[in-house]
Amino acid sequence: MYAKELAISNFRNYKEATLSFSRGKNIIIGENAQGKTNLIEAIDLLSSGKSSRAGEERELVRWSSANASIKLEYHARGYDESLSMDWKMKSPSAPNAVAQSRAQKTMFVNGVQQQSVKGILGRLLTVSFSAEDLNLLRGGPKYRRDWLDNLAIRLHPSFHDVTSSYAKSVMQRNKLLKTLAEKGRLSVSDQDELLVWDKQLARFGTQIIKMRLDLLASLLPIAESEQAHLSRSQERLSIDYAFRAQETVLQSNSTDEEDDDDSSSSTELAKSSEVKSMSDVRAMENVELARYMMKLMRERRWLELRRKQSLVGPHRDNLIFKLNDADAASFASQGQQRSIVLSLKLAELRRIQDEINEPPILLLDDVLAELDERRAQLLLSTVGDQMQTIMSTTHLSGIDSAWLNDAKVMTVHAGALKEDCPA
Ligand SMILES: Nc1ncnc2c1ncn2[C@@H]1O[C@H](COP(=O)(O)OP(=O)(O)O)[C@@H](O)[C@H]1O
Ligand SMILES: [Mg+2]
Repeated sequence: MYAKELAISNFRNYKEATLSFSRGKNIIIGENAQGKTNLIEAIDLLSSGKSSRAGEERELVRWSSANASIKLEYHARGYDESLSMDWKMKSPSAPNAVAQSRAQKTMFVNGVQQQSVKGILGRLLTVSFSAEDLNLLRGGPKYRRDWLDNLAIRLHPSFHDVTSSYAKSVMQRNKLLKTLAEKGRLSVSDQDELLVWDKQLARFGTQIIKMRLDLLASLLPIAESEQAHLSRSQERLSIDYAFRAQETVLQSNSTDEEDDDDSSSSTELAKSSEVKSMSDVRAMENVELARYMMKLMRERRWLELRRKQSLVGPHRDNLIFKLNDADAASFASQGQQRSIVLSLKLAELRRIQDEINEPPILLLDDVLAELDERRAQLLLSTVGDQMQTIMSTTHLSGIDSAWLNDAKVMTVHAGALKEDCPA
């Protein structure tokens, strides 16, 4: 799979730009804040349907512009295809515009308008790697859950419906918990209503947990072997899926906690069902797992009412990375943490390649600055000529001259692109 040409208009700090790519290596050089990440974001958007850094669509539209568009022509599965998005502002944006203005997004596949983001998923497959990805280790559980779910959705676009139905159910159920908590006593009909949402959570939640565990099982051997390679067989990477409902603890001082709060000021363990391991759960039938989730919800009902929050389900779960059986988030060095993230990214890449029988496009946003020379060289040599790479960097030093030989080099300055090879 490879990108052929990107055309963008009034997107972020770009007015108009067209960029054609080489099938192999592409390097975009620029100082900070010139538009490197913006460019990579445009490609990533067409692959995943959403921006990982824009909170709202209007942020993507160039300030003071009424509309924006991006279009990528690419080659995949033996065909030339195109994906595009455009945005129309309800009212023009400004750097400090207040929230009123909104952007209406429209998506197209080969010029045909799509009803939902699902229409574009699974077509353009990219693996992106940026400094942000270090959050896979350092960030909260949400980064890790999103990493798995986003990969699952791109491999199996129909999974998008499951995750969005689940998210809506959790929201509705939390709303109900809040209403009921304020009400005090639960009537029979209150309990029935809650049960309806319990079932929804269990139904979609089971599918998400199963999907995550299957995906993890296929990623783990690849990540493990990449980590062994990076560490010259010194480090064994393992990943645990933590069902956090099983470890729900009762706070002595119940505060309005965030979902991701890993607060451990526990006083007493909530009444616990028998604890199931990752492989126990993977071996369970869907109905059995749904029943288990319902049981956990029943046991935690009073606690959920107290916290006004759904405490059981995949929206609370976590992934724990371990190096030689020690929790990597707490014990691994900075360098080891970078190796783990690199191993996970390479596993993602190979997993996609296995699924679609061709390599995805690799997007490296200013990532060499994050890696030491050995890890950077290893990344570049792994990538080699096997797949299209689009890389941004502030300078070329540190990149092997042999690697640079057949690369297409472009420079970006204040949202303007130039194809050249600086001296
Ligand atoms: N909607 C927008 N309109 C105009 N400029 C924007 C918009 N969004 C971001 N920018 C500008 O883009 C620049 C950052 O670009 P970025 O691609 O992140 O830089 P880098 O080259 O460091 O990766 C900043 O100067 C920022 O102000
Ligand atoms: Mg950047």
